Amino acid sequence: ADGDAAKGEKVFNKCKACHMVGENAKNRVGPELNGIVGAEIASVDGFKYSDAFQSKKAEGLVWTEDNLDAYLADPRGFIPKNKMGFAGLKKEDDREDVIAYLKQFQ
Ligand code: HEM
Repeated sequence: ADGDAAKGEKVFNKCKACHMVGENAKNRVGPELNGIVGAEIASVDGFKYSDAFQSKKAEGLVWTEDNLDAYLADPRGFIPKNKMGFAGLKKEDDREDVIAYLKQFQ
């Protein structure tokens, strides 16, 4: 099902400690997330990614909606040893909504 971007904006509050999105977004603890849906992993200029992320980039991993969903459900399960200090979003609706929100910044 398609997510609700307005609800996703609220879900994104859980991400804001580390990520920015939108106009003037900068890298913080995590990379800025403009254009992330459909992007190759670990492609934000100036952000120092973990070795785990760089290995996935070498494998050609792309942030399709399905991959984002799997990553956000279980970040450490999907990419072991990554450095995103976040337990994940257990509710499927929350994941779909935050992905719909992120798609607005393409
Ligand atoms: C990486 C989303 C919460 C820190 C990423 C990436 C996405 C993402 C899509 C991949 C970026 C890329 O490939 O360029 C989210 C969302 C969150 C969230 C939607 C909330 C639901 C957090 C939080 C933190 C964080 C709370 C900090 C405590 C990071 C870091 C990376 C990252 C450090 C890079 C990981 C590495 O290089 O191993 N995040 N994130 N994120 N995120 Fe998050």
